[in-house]
Amino acid sequence: MERRGFLQTSFAVAAAGLAPVTALRLPRRRLMRRPDTAPVPAKSPIRLSSNENPLGLSDAARTAIAEGLDEANRYPGEWRRRLVAALATKHQVKPEQIVLGNGSTEVLQMVVQSAGADATVIVADPTFEDVPRYAERIGVRVEKVPLASGYTHDLTRMQDIAARAAGPVLVYLCNPNNPTGTLTPAADVDRWIASAPERVTFAVDEAYFEYASGPSYWSAQKWIETHPNVMVVRTFSKIYAMAGMRLGYAIGHPAAAERLERFSAGNNANQLALAAGLASLGDDAFAQKSLAVNREGLQALYRCLEELDLEYLPSQTNFVMHRIHGDLATYNARMREHGILVGRPFPPMLAFSRVSVGLPEEMRVFTEALRSFRQQGWV
Ligand SMILES: Cc1ncc(COP(=O)(O)O)c(C=O)c1O
Repeated sequence: MERRGFLQTSFAVAAAGLAPVTALRLPRRRLMRRPDTAPVPAKSPIRLSSNENPLGLSDAARTAIAEGLDEANRYPGEWRRRLVAALATKHQVKPEQIVLGNGSTEVLQMVVQSAGADATVIVADPTFEDVPRYAERIGVRVEKVPLASGYTHDLTRMQDIAARAAGPVLVYLCNPNNPTGTLTPAADVDRWIASAPERVTFAVDEAYFEYASGPSYWSAQKWIETHPNVMVVRTFSKIYAMAGMRLGYAIGHPAAAERLERFSAGNNANQLALAAGLASLGDDAFAQKSLAVNREGLQALYRCLEELDLEYLPSQTNFVMHRIHGDLATYNARMREHGILVGRPFPPMLAFSRVSVGLPEEMRVFTEALRSFRQQGWV
């Protein structure tokens, strides 16, 4: 655009009542606000619906974003290289084994696309919906396998379906699983991967990896050096509280990473998210605080659910699936009327509600609401 035209446009924007460009600089004070100490505003809903980290962005991420604004006019190549290098160090792999995504959701989309139109996608039921949803949208066949007793993946049945499928197979394993918060023993996953033919690809979604513990759980990352058919998917949305920033990644064999990259948009992670991600990786204190707040919230939830004798699934994540008595849509609407958003329905588990862990004060409000529901005979 010629300078004169540009000036005219700027004038038109200002005349339309919009802020002039110089006034759009965000005050640093607002970026540095700490929401974890702020009281819950009475009128805004308490969001216990999407497994977000209630602490808000870490100070380190906020500082990185504020400083990163100065480079927001540039393409983010250098920031991509820096984050990929940091992730490669963290996971002890080569940079070419990391694939970035605009949230891990985009990585899951790449996983589905790279499986090919003639693939069979095998998923648990219920599980995180994105993989079956992406597959169904592009006409790829999906086989949903009900969870086994104990809410683990029914690996025997999944393996059986994989063996009978004619062409390539994509197995999506969400471990720990969303919405149940349960683990599938890693040794069982290992056994299948070890014996699977090359035409069976595994995408292991470890979005809640940091929250999980116990002797039966470990990452599927151990397979990626030797098995190009295994990919591990991680996110900055949960432990690092960056859900709104959108940043996730896959770790895999260089050949697996190259296969995925074919389906990624160039520069698919924005520069501020990359800067925030890089800062978050070095902020172990924040990750520890996220875990501590989550532990406290889980304990408050368990106490209340036990008191009300409502069955729940002990969680390895930042959410709990618990039974309600009555209709789920009515329950969700009543919670909304009390200013609380809880999880969407996860068929076929319609006798259960998924509630995410919030701040201690938010947990107090939620558990009080649940107790009052009981008094009215609603749960
Ligand atoms: C298992 C699982 N995978 C992936 C995602 C999406 O994460 P992202 O925000 O990185 O797209 C979620 C979000 O809740 C999830 O539960």
